[in-house]
Amino acid sequence: MAREFTSVGVVGLGTMGAGIVEVFARNGVDVVAVEISAAALERGRATLTGSTDRAVTKGKLAEADRDALLARIDWQVGLDALHSVDLVIEAVPEHLDLKQRIFAELDRVCKPEAILATNTSSLSVTEISVATSRPNQVIGIHFFNPAPVMKLVEVVRTVVTSADVVADVEALCARLGKVDVTISDRAGFIANALLFGYLNHAVGMFESHYATREDIDAAMKLGCGLPMGPLALMDLIGLDTAYEILDTMYRRGGRDRRHAPVPLIKQMVTAGLLGRKSGRGFYTYERPGSPVVVPDEQTPAATESALADGARAIAKVGVVGSGTMATGIIEVFAKAGYEVVSVTRGAEKSAKVFEAVKTSLNKGVVRGKLSEADRDAALGRINWSATLEHLADVDLVVEAVVEELSVKKALFASLDEICKPGVVLATTTSSLPVIDVAMATQRPADVVGLHFFNPAPIMPLVEIVQTIRTSAETTATARAVCAALGKTGVVCGDRSGFIVNALLFPYLNDAVKMLEASYSTADDIDHAMKLGCGYPMGPFELLDVVGLDVSLAIQRELYLELREPGFAPAPLLEHLVTAGYLGRKSGRGFRDHTRR
Ligand SMILES: NC(=O)c1ccc[n+]([C@@H]2O[C@H](COP(=O)([O-])OP(=O)(O)OC[C@H]3O[C@@H](n4cnc5c(N)ncnc54)[C@H](O)[C@@H]3O)[C@@H](O)[C@H]2O)c1
Repeated sequence: MAREFTSVGVVGLGTMGAGIVEVFARNGVDVVAVEISAAALERGRATLTGSTDRAVTKGKLAEADRDALLARIDWQVGLDALHSVDLVIEAVPEHLDLKQRIFAELDRVCKPEAILATNTSSLSVTEISVATSRPNQVIGIHFFNPAPVMKLVEVVRTVVTSADVVADVEALCARLGKVDVTISDRAGFIANALLFGYLNHAVGMFESHYATREDIDAAMKLGCGLPMGPLALMDLIGLDTAYEILDTMYRRGGRDRRHAPVPLIKQMVTAGLLGRKSGRGFYTYERPGSPVVVPDEQTPAATESALADGARAIAKVGVVGSGTMATGIIEVFAKAGYEVVSVTRGAEKSAKVFEAVKTSLNKGVVRGKLSEADRDAALGRINWSATLEHLADVDLVVEAVVEELSVKKALFASLDEICKPGVVLATTTSSLPVIDVAMATQRPADVVGLHFFNPAPIMPLVEIVQTIRTSAETTATARAVCAALGKTGVVCGDRSGFIVNALLFPYLNDAVKMLEASYSTADDIDHAMKLGCGYPMGPFELLDVVGLDVSLAIQRELYLELREPGFAPAPLLEHLVTAGYLGRKSGRGFRDHTRR
């Protein structure tokens, strides 16, 4: 029989604590909510009532249930109020000495059978436990932000936590409607160990002006389907908390440079820019604690002003290539009303591309998204050619031929001879340096990367890659074109992986390393990222979809360019590729797809 938890205590009612109180009270458990001062207690109470009031307004909570929920909470200053609770969850700031002091005090105050839990994200639960006389009753219960919403709880068992305590806490999680993964005591557990290197890297991109905050966040939301971008997530977590987590992970997790907090984080913390809770972090919020972003001096002007930035008028577009990307891009431009010249290597290829574009447009008609007249008009806008000479009068060329530098360079040298002056020349390369392609022409200022995502007609994101020679006018033109296509164009520098792949693949690689180290299973790691961070797919699901060979190639490029030791491809990934386990396309990757 699992232990009954009729009353619990929560210590610290900040970003996490207030949410944790809500989780328990919503599920019929009495809560003693404890803060260090009357003012902090009021803040915590305001956070909780704000959250429950929003739930009532949205129709997710009945008024009577809200009142019953609030009636279950006993608001108190000081730990002495916790003498009769069955379980305490501590959620004070991420400092080992503070947590140890609190646990020593809880040990003195709480009844002998009470379980003492910490919500730490990165500190050693074991080190916290030894501050008490009952380390076997100390456990990590790591909730995710916002606690009432996120389904995952990481249950952290130390080498001394007793098995019945683990079982009781697992049963409690189920009662709270949460999904738990039980793991051992390692810095960052599953989710944060995979998340924080990525967040820190994104801050580094922002700090080095590689891309704007809006573009970094839009890239990860639209390119990977994440619920929020990394900088918005840093603001939600709180920059002070994020700093402490990174710092601890750096020290506990083998001094991986990727966890050494980017200096900007500390500067922002010192300046009081803590994120949502202080009203300003990477973004500015309506008021402290509000999720509503308001414009500030970094907010970009509306896209319409791109023309004012010198964007060139584009009416006729050449697309070179006949593969998946070229086909999708032809469709996107034709549908958006551009006159398109498709250049392939022969009439046979052109016929194939024509069929593919027609089939795709027909699907739109069947789904009621496109009228037959619009389909015919789009097809009528495409001119089919097998010679580059027909690109003499286009305003923009988008190259989507094979991913080989020599081929692309030769093509750009030809375009340089054929195209009229002032044409924007774009490459869709996903891994080659755009500057190499640009320097094959006499007009590198007009060359830019336009990295579409597959399938181009569906994916809303385009990365606009500017080299050190790309002119502002060319970038403005690329932005205006993306807007006219109904896509979000994000501008970034010419570095391996641009924004999305540079942030995504090291995380996937880290997940493989975690599996390789036997810290957890592929299923639990996938669960943790989906339920703890709201990702649409777990890392192993995604790797199997993308292809392990493709993922390995991208990871190798990143490693070669940045020489970051933490980017070295996971040996397990290399072995799976060598063994021919490439993911869904070969029937087997991290999972066996033949038996599903
Ligand atoms: N922020 C997140 O996204 C997140 C997610 C999961 C876990 N965590 C972990 O949760 C814990 C709390 O983080 P947070 O972001 O909520 O921090 P926070 O700074 O928002 O809140 C901490 C609260 O603890 C209170 N406090 C400080 N000393 C206290 C004391 N002696 N007694 C009682 N209360 C005291 C503070 O007044 C404050 O309200 C940390 O261990 C953190 O790593 C944070």
